[in-house]
Amino acid sequence: MQTIKDVNPNRLPKHVAIIMDGNGRWAKQRGRLRIFGHENGVEAVRQTVENCARISIDFLTLYAFSTENWNRPKKEVQTLMKLLVSSLKKELDTLNKNNIRLRAIGNIDSLPQKAQIELEEVMQRTEKNSGMTLTLALSYGSREELKTAVKAISIKVKNNIISTDNIDDTVINTHLYTHFLPDVDLLIRTSGEHRISNFLLWQIAYAELFFIDVFWPDFREHHLVQAILSYQNRERRFGKTSEQLH
Ligand code: FPP
Repeated sequence: MQTIKDVNPNRLPKHVAIIMDGNGRWAKQRGRLRIFGHENGVEAVRQTVENCARISIDFLTLYAFSTENWNRPKKEVQTLMKLLVSSLKKELDTLNKNNIRLRAIGNIDSLPQKAQIELEEVMQRTEKNSGMTLTLALSYGSREELKTAVKAISIKVKNNIISTDNIDDTVINTHLYTHFLPDVDLLIRTSGEHRISNFLLWQIAYAELFFIDVFWPDFREHHLVQAILSYQNRERRFGKTSEQLH
């Protein structure tokens, strides 16, 4: 089994994003409630965050709750929010020990008050950390993010703050929730589904995609290493020919 030692430190993806999928099916396989899957998903989150920090990944972004997830049964949504609050409380020291800074993207105002307060507290108390930036996508949807950005830019055009001619990638980037993040280099999705599900649509324009047939609660170091090694063995051409790159 491959370990972190097999990763080439000179060719790391700067920004890794993960769609953590399969908690529900993992629980169902065991004849348990979906919530049991989420509870076990937290341990996979913990290990993955620590492993990414050990590998020296600069930015890790996790899809923890989508705008569409609000449509799940009320009890499941409540449990996910409770898990978020309890994990944040529990992990603050570990984040600081690993020099990790916590950030959040999404419609944070729509989260329960308790979750917003805890999130704000952990973000503030890890603000000065200079190692990996861990970003949680919470009540996040890429289309909503893009609509919000288009509206904000339109208002600035209307008020003559920017001209239409000057709208470029940088202007768009600065109006996204992800304004503090570089583009995604490697996007991982667990559970065997081959979908993007409204996650970072603009930001994954040139990302390498890695799909793995493992339910999220089972995702471990060797799966992460497998994804990174796959990334390291690919040639990223950004639209150019192979000859132009060498
Ligand atoms: C997808 O599995 C997972 C989620 C919707 C939530 C992810 C949340 C966690 C791992 C726990 C809490 C997070 C943090 C950051 C502490 P699914 O329910 O869609 O699985 P299924 O596709 O098998 O139904």
